Amino acid sequence: MATRTKPAAPPARGYRDLHDHIAALDAAGLLRTIREPVNKDTELHPLVRWQFRGGIPERDRKAFLFTHVVDSTGRRFAMPVVVGALATNPDIYAIGMNAPVAEIGRVWTRAMAAPIAPRVVDRAPCQEVVIEGAALDGEGNGLDALPVPISTPGFDAAPFLTATCCISRDPETGVQNMGTYRCQLKAPRRLGLKMFLSIRAGGYVHWKKYKAMGRPMPMAIVVGAPPAVAYLGPQKLPEDIDELNVAGGIAGAPIHVVRARTVDLLVPAEAEIVIEGHVDTEFLEPEGPFGESHGHINLEEYNFVVDVTAITHRRDAVFTSIISQVTPSESSVIKRVAYEPRFLNHLRDQLGIKGVRRVSMHEPLTNLRRVMVVQFDHGVPRAEVWRALYGAASYDSVCGKYLIGVSEDIDPDNPDAVFWSMAYRADPGLDSQLLAHRPPGHGPRSERGGGEESALLIDATLKHASAPVALPTRPYMENAKALWERLGLPALKPESPWHGYSLGDWSDKWEADAARAAASGYLETGRRAHQRRRSDAGPNIYVERDDD
Ligand SMILES: Cc1cc2nc3c(=O)[nH]c(=O)nc-3n(C[C@H](O)[C@H](O)[C@H](O)COP(=O)(O)O)c2cc1C
Repeated sequence: MATRTKPAAPPARGYRDLHDHIAALDAAGLLRTIREPVNKDTELHPLVRWQFRGGIPERDRKAFLFTHVVDSTGRRFAMPVVVGALATNPDIYAIGMNAPVAEIGRVWTRAMAAPIAPRVVDRAPCQEVVIEGAALDGEGNGLDALPVPISTPGFDAAPFLTATCCISRDPETGVQNMGTYRCQLKAPRRLGLKMFLSIRAGGYVHWKKYKAMGRPMPMAIVVGAPPAVAYLGPQKLPEDIDELNVAGGIAGAPIHVVRARTVDLLVPAEAEIVIEGHVDTEFLEPEGPFGESHGHINLEEYNFVVDVTAITHRRDAVFTSIISQVTPSESSVIKRVAYEPRFLNHLRDQLGIKGVRRVSMHEPLTNLRRVMVVQFDHGVPRAEVWRALYGAASYDSVCGKYLIGVSEDIDPDNPDAVFWSMAYRADPGLDSQLLAHRPPGHGPRSERGGGEESALLIDATLKHASAPVALPTRPYMENAKALWERLGLPALKPESPWHGYSLGDWSDKWEADAARAAASGYLETGRRAHQRRRSDAGPNIYVERDDD
């Protein structure tokens, strides 16, 4: 039976819902609205994919709103689909957080330190339309009425929900968990569900408890939520923390929740769509293949099954999909902007390591977790560098296969600069350590099997004074940039390092020689060199400092 309740008067709330957020993106010029028919099964994700594989700079990526969605049979869906609205780039994420990009880390820290419990309301926009019972059955009904796109046409076995917040409750403690897990459409009221054992999915911990009790696990799958809630789905929090509390901390106000209709769970009142049901604890079914965020297809596996008992949604619901698979993607941006400050916090505040400046997770193709760079102040004691590398390698069991420490003059986001630092500031024999027994984490199934990998830690920081970086010093480069621009040459995008600087091994004499040369006075330097000629010196021997 499908029921339409009266439109719920939205209770006053202290945060944006998805509709406000989409309007804010539009106002900021970060939304493309596509009104022409687009096929959700063949065209929709591939179109948005070009934004990540077509050489478009991160800052120019936008969210896509599709208002005329069809499938390969020509069926038109009433609900619009939005892709990339949560985290196509950090600017979009920042609008969702209601904070400038530079403040995102601080907002996460504050939210974790001071969570705000949700407020239970009894009428909610997410239950304006309720579909349950027989109304869920039959082609074109239930899940089959939703405009769920195929993420990787050519490989995926079905449309998958990707922008989920899957809510379950620990049957022992009563604490709810919320995680983003993919769900495969299988029938109008049956979903496949993948909860990764390798990344300790919180829902799986609950599932094992329900299985031991011989009961199916109630689950509510939120698709589309206020951004403050949606950003918690992919966050790895300790198991005893209810993500909706931290979402309140992000919003700075309690998140409104309402009781689900057919399962004993609290769901965000301003969600777009909520799919309620039970996860079978007796049978598993083949699920996949599906393109994964490690950049490979996750082949068919036995996985969980959800029997749907109700679908509720707003009257004006927008269907949200996250673009994932090969990175960069929306899925990697949504993790990066929150994971990096969390790691930094851990090293700086929990482990008390002084002189750690940044943690950077390498994103293109590698998907963040495998390659991490930690940046330090110059002069940090070596033991502190190693404490930080060990700390970053053990903070999250699935992050940190290659960890590299660099100094403050190296841009940790620039792999060229990191390789440069490894090339000249690290001796593999002296400055690296192998850590055994690391969980392999999220990746394509390894031919080697065995269930463990190792981690390689490299201290590529500057350990002693070194000769300067061989580029013209800053004033010359800045002056030349002004000249470049006056000449109307093509726009520049300075790449670090774009000017030379001292790394400690430099003398006043050389500074004076260089200044004299720049003032076209090199003949004087030549005269002084002539006065210092020696018959006992060998070639390529450094001139001593006190030789001036
Ligand atoms: C777009 C996207 C899709 C994801 N899909 C899955 C998935 O299918 N299964 C899974 O276990 N984790 C998936 N993750 C990672 C989890 O969301 C992440 O590990 C999170 O911490 C899960 O919450 P939990 O710690 O409460 O389990 C996905 C993340 C994103 C951003």
